[in-house]
Amino acid sequence: MKLFAPLFIGLLCANLSSPVLAGDVKAGAAVSQSCVMCHGANGISTLPGTPSLAGQPDIYLASQLKQFRDGKRHNEVMSLMAKPLSDEDIDNVAAWFAQFEIELKKP
Ligand code: HEC
Repeated sequence: MKLFAPLFIGLLCANLSSPVLAGDVKAGAAVSQSCVMCHGANGISTLPGTPSLAGQPDIYLASQLKQFRDGKRHNEVMSLMAKPLSDEDIDNVAAWFAQFEIELKKP
């Protein structure tokens, strides 16, 4: 069993890194117009208390947006912003912000 554990974890990671949602990036760009004043033009936020969205996995972004919309995650601003979004809008805007590549530089 011990021998198989690394293989299993490897498969799990491979699975996590493959795209799961099939959002339309172009349509997502249109939805993102109402997000950029807080989250930054390319999803890099400069406002304290507002997270950057660029490069985050689409599945994570979509799940957080659905949680705001469905009242499972609460934030005064985001609960309002997510309310009018359809599942399709959410998948699309998640695809838009997820497509940016972030380069990690060690200090
Ligand atoms: C008026 C400012 C504002 C606007 C406009 C706005 N957001 Fe946010 N957003 C925030 C803030 C503040 C938070 C942090 C909420 C918290 O602390 O829970 C947040 C959090 C999020 C998160 C969670 C990120 C994480 O790492 O957990 C997502 C996803 C998100 N916003 C997407 C969007 C999208 C998509 C739009 C446009 C449809 C949008 N936001 C519009 C201010 C804004």
